[in-house]
Amino acid sequence: MSDLCIDVRKLNKHFAKNHVVKDFSLQVHKGEIYGFLGPNGSGKTTSIRMMCGLITPDSGSGRCLDMDIFTQSDDIKKRIGYMTQHFSMWGNLTIKENLLFVARLHNLDQRTQRVEKTLTDLGLTARQDQLAKYLSGGWKQRMALAACMLHQPSLLFLDEPTAGVDPKARREFWQTLHRLSDEGISILVSTHYMDEAERCHKVAYLSYGQLLASGTIQDIIKAQNLTTIQITGTNLSEIESRLLEFPSIEQTVIFGNKLFVTSRDERKLGEIISQNLTREYQFSKVDTNLEDAFTWLMKSNDEKNET
Ligand SMILES: Nc1ncnc2c1ncn2[C@@H]1O[C@H](COP(=O)(O)OP(=O)(O)O)[C@@H](O)[C@H]1O
Ligand SMILES: [Mg+2]
Repeated sequence: MSDLCIDVRKLNKHFAKNHVVKDFSLQVHKGEIYGFLGPNGSGKTTSIRMMCGLITPDSGSGRCLDMDIFTQSDDIKKRIGYMTQHFSMWGNLTIKENLLFVARLHNLDQRTQRVEKTLTDLGLTARQDQLAKYLSGGWKQRMALAACMLHQPSLLFLDEPTAGVDPKARREFWQTLHRLSDEGISILVSTHYMDEAERCHKVAYLSYGQLLASGTIQDIIKAQNLTTIQITGTNLSEIESRLLEFPSIEQTVIFGNKLFVTSRDERKLGEIISQNLTREYQFSKVDTNLEDAFTWLMKSNDEKNET
């Protein structure tokens, strides 16, 4: 048995003339939470659907839970859980009735026991009799997760599960994901939120159908070779515009009363800062974060695509 739950190589997908996923390769180890990031339309959903056998790639090869994604897609579907971006539920049914309905749709055995166990596992028992249409975004999401876990899959594909969910509910949702991961369940989860990316064991970043980086957050940040300096003081947006005129300053961002300036050239960055800031400004070198690294990756890829 392989230690990998997902192992796909050089997958490609076109929709008509649109090449939406290009030579996509990814290896996910069992029990990992793998984050999947990238702008809208970058090919996340299409890649997910290929990895779990829902659509057939044009070329490439791959295995999901040790099954071939080209020839064993029916078996794969029975063993994985897939929470779609726009999941559906029946508003006039309660949480429990929704789950029983899904269990019946999938022809599962021991439906009542399964539903009860899943309600307990996901902390839904106290709300089981509430009508789905009156639930907040966070509880709806939790119900959708329950619905895709009734058959006890060992691998979950969650496509933007927390879009539009409030911060507290997102935090609780992620606690649940980590608990599932501790129990040995592997999770591939797409998200737009940087704080969620940082909660994953590893992340992959897609842009225009191309995988620009994958691995641990530390490795991805390190590979970009960036230096970031934090500046505090007044009129930061004026300083920002001035600094952006230097070609070796790749990116800047203001958070509250701090301006972060990032460059690939540590020496030049130091020179520019010391020559352009008056004494009333404080500055110091800080760790480059994942958002800086992704912004840089996207920008350099855009420039490559333009030339
Ligand atoms: N069934 C489809 N038919 C035609 N084009 C599609 C289809 N699904 C996705 N696309 C296109 O493929 C690209 C990638 O889409 P998608 O995988 O949904 O990206 P993401 O999930 O990252 O937003 C987009 O340009 C989208 O319009
Ligand atoms: Mg999508």
